[in-house]
Amino acid sequence: MDKLLIRGGNRLSGDVVISGAKNAALPILCAGLLTADTLELSNVPNLQDVTTILKLMRQMGLRAEQNDHSVTLNGGDITKLEAPYELVKTMRASILVLGPLLSRFGEAKVSLPGGCAIGSRPVDQHIKGLQAMGAEITIDAGYIYAKAKRLKGTRIVTDMITVTGTENLLMAAVLADGETVLENAAREPEVSDLAHLLVAMGARIEGIGSDRLVIQGVDKLHGASHTVIADRIETGTFLCAVAAVGGDVTLKNTRSSLLDAALDKLREAGAILTSGDDWIRVQMARRPKAVSFRTTEYPGFPTDMQAQFMALNCIAEGTSHVTETIFENRFMHVQELNRLGAAIDIEGNTAIVKGVEKFVGAPVMATDLRASASLVIAGLAAQGETLIERIYHLDRGYDRMENKLSSIGAQIERVK
Ligand code: EPU
Repeated sequence: MDKLLIRGGNRLSGDVVISGAKNAALPILCAGLLTADTLELSNVPNLQDVTTILKLMRQMGLRAEQNDHSVTLNGGDITKLEAPYELVKTMRASILVLGPLLSRFGEAKVSLPGGCAIGSRPVDQHIKGLQAMGAEITIDAGYIYAKAKRLKGTRIVTDMITVTGTENLLMAAVLADGETVLENAAREPEVSDLAHLLVAMGARIEGIGSDRLVIQGVDKLHGASHTVIADRIETGTFLCAVAAVGGDVTLKNTRSSLLDAALDKLREAGAILTSGDDWIRVQMARRPKAVSFRTTEYPGFPTDMQAQFMALNCIAEGTSHVTETIFENRFMHVQELNRLGAAIDIEGNTAIVKGVEKFVGAPVMATDLRASASLVIAGLAAQGETLIERIYHLDRGYDRMENKLSSIGAQIERVK
């Protein structure tokens, strides 16, 4: 299994090109199931999760050609309406095939995603929404069996804001009979990116970017071309890395408006940020100041940036409080950061981080995707060598992270 070996302490400087967003690419690829025509997608990141979703959909009969960051999909010959446990267990986002399969083919069999390192993450809201649209759903032997002659538009109010739940119901509603209103919809930019693609495919959606999506179902969708938006979490991760170790880096192909809440916190920590239409420059020449925050839904501070900011807080001046409100178990990185010399205590869903002067390199283990990113940041800032094990978590969601970091001066290598 691959590991990352980092020799910490180098300042970072230069340019990094940010990849397309994982969490936009995954639902967008699933939209390929909604039409018999061809979708031409660009800025698709090269990630393990993208490979997994393509493998899953190829098993269904979807034709997919991947060429660097372009993917062409054709859903003209889909025959197998099933997502097996073997693949769903490796990636929960596989649940995103449920809405499209059911709305276009009237039937789907999708494994229930199991537990997850960051929380229990049920999919009850996806199921509740589809049932409200008239689907007959049974759960048997770990599988969701869904059937509906044609889904019927209705008003759905989810119990909480759910990103993939909104995306699944949106993909179900675009081919349903009549009007669907999704209240309490997630406003994440990745949901809007999916909605824009669906509109390009002929869907009728109003309220994109708001918490109320109104969809008029159509009989059929057609092919389209689409460029996936920039990955705001990859952007934030690189910004945190520079803020932790110091330097001057410009991130290209990304937009500051995707991550205002995180940028505000970086400024509070002492980073100097400037930006244009498609770039963000970060300069950091001092020890960071501790910043407290609570994770919340977009446009608030993203849970997917919590671990990376915590790494920054560990070596900051002062004490910070980091409260996680989205997932009940997203502090797995705390013990690993403490192994590197951090001083973090957990009280309920709040981590109290007392800033220490420095991290000291040690072997650590990645536990989930964003936890892995926080360990990379800590390793870059640490004195000495840090060896990170289980980096398959990192490969799920970061496109060649170690290459991008080496190109701006980090000493980081992948070892077998
Ligand atoms: N929830 C339920 N029932 C549901 C759906 C959600 O109880 O039916 C709960 C979840 O357990 C959680 C909260 O609602 O406590 C929000 O979960 P949400 O459904 O929004 O999360 P998700 O759609 O499963 C996506 C991202 C995550 C990101 C979250 C929150 C994708 C593929 N995944 O997950 O990304 O953390 O939204 O923003 O879009 C990551 O990239 O590292 C990652 C975990």
